[in-house]
Amino acid sequence: VFATTPLNPPDAIFKLTADYKADTFDKKVNLGVGAYRDNAGKPFVLPVVRKAKILIANDETLDHEYLPIAGLPAFTSATGKLIFGEDSPALKEGRVSTIQTISGTGANHYGAAFLERFYGPWAGKTKEEKVIYVSNPTWANHKSIFNSVGCTPVDYPYYDPKTIGLNLTAFLDFLRSAPAQSVFLLHACAHNPTGVDPTREQWKEIADIFTAKGHYAFFDCAYQGFASGDLDNDAWAVRHFVEKKVPLLVCQSYAKNAGLYGERIGALNVVASHSGDVEGGAQRINSQLLLMQRSEISNPPTFGARIVSLILNDPKLFAEWKQDISSMAERIILMRKKLFDLLENKYKTPAVGPNGWSHITSQIGMFSFTGLNPQQCKDLLEKGHIYLTANGRISMAGLNESNIEYFAECVDKVVRG
Ligand code: LMR
Repeated sequence: VFATTPLNPPDAIFKLTADYKADTFDKKVNLGVGAYRDNAGKPFVLPVVRKAKILIANDETLDHEYLPIAGLPAFTSATGKLIFGEDSPALKEGRVSTIQTISGTGANHYGAAFLERFYGPWAGKTKEEKVIYVSNPTWANHKSIFNSVGCTPVDYPYYDPKTIGLNLTAFLDFLRSAPAQSVFLLHACAHNPTGVDPTREQWKEIADIFTAKGHYAFFDCAYQGFASGDLDNDAWAVRHFVEKKVPLLVCQSYAKNAGLYGERIGALNVVASHSGDVEGGAQRINSQLLLMQRSEISNPPTFGARIVSLILNDPKLFAEWKQDISSMAERIILMRKKLFDLLENKYKTPAVGPNGWSHITSQIGMFSFTGLNPQQCKDLLEKGHIYLTANGRISMAGLNESNIEYFAECVDKVVRG
């Protein structure tokens, strides 16, 4: 009965992790998956998370009952404040519906599924017409997720391979010429895979076009804190769009900024607008999110929600978390500087972009888009046992004091051919 089931290739990112684990070469380097590693190359349990786990283990009032369908209330209220800010008009006016999700992937899934069913401008449209514009390039899973819920991802221009930076003109032109009320996926900060973010001035221009054209902003915020080391700073674009009354939703993940990858803790926040969503908008939106959650996972898991809720709601733990985040961000920034220095000054590696290797230090967040071409990436893998995605993305977090020299030496070799 499954004779016609086609064979799907393995996931490109997770295959790298599996191949890396199976590799016995002593100098192998894993720069594939976006998961933070410490300076010894080991997975990092944040000290604040360790503390929260001890508090949970010792709390005899906690049980294993079901959470409410929307998730742990102390988590959902705190996570909204983290992204929108304590004084957010959207929160104060009761316009935000938040549900706990299976990390950022679950939030993206519900966000797109919700729009597919209820986004007014899409009423009566076919799958092909329910377009979510995504940056070219974007996290590969965005496309799979949107397709799987009956939407059609279509690229918008974003990254310019010639400058290894943002193609702002093409992006703005595209926004202007897209049909009114189009849906655009935006990376709130630390763009995956390029590490190329708009500046605040550029975000303002982008937001103005959203307002003028009535576009819908589908924000994916998987790296709050990771871009600059500062949680508020990294939420700036989202908050600006709220201020400008752009209709929007925000997906959040605590995989990276709390190191809770496997606990699958995140949230979806849908903001009802002032104008279009008439009386009771937030309540009606919320009721549909609950229905989706109930039919898909019934109610979300407790452990990650408890950890994050403790951290967000306890001022002392929150302060410690901020320190942990900046220590991760700082180590990544240090690796960027070292890599730049090695390629530029030690190896004098021929440039792959117009400004030498300066894109390594100007890019933001966990990833760097090196500018290496597919053949060079293949050579790194086959000759150097260096695992990176074929588009030239490297997870900066996989570099450390012990492997960065080897990595730079290999890059130098493949660039020189
Ligand atoms: C990545 O892009 O490497 C991470 O977001 C992990 C994933 O799920 O793909």
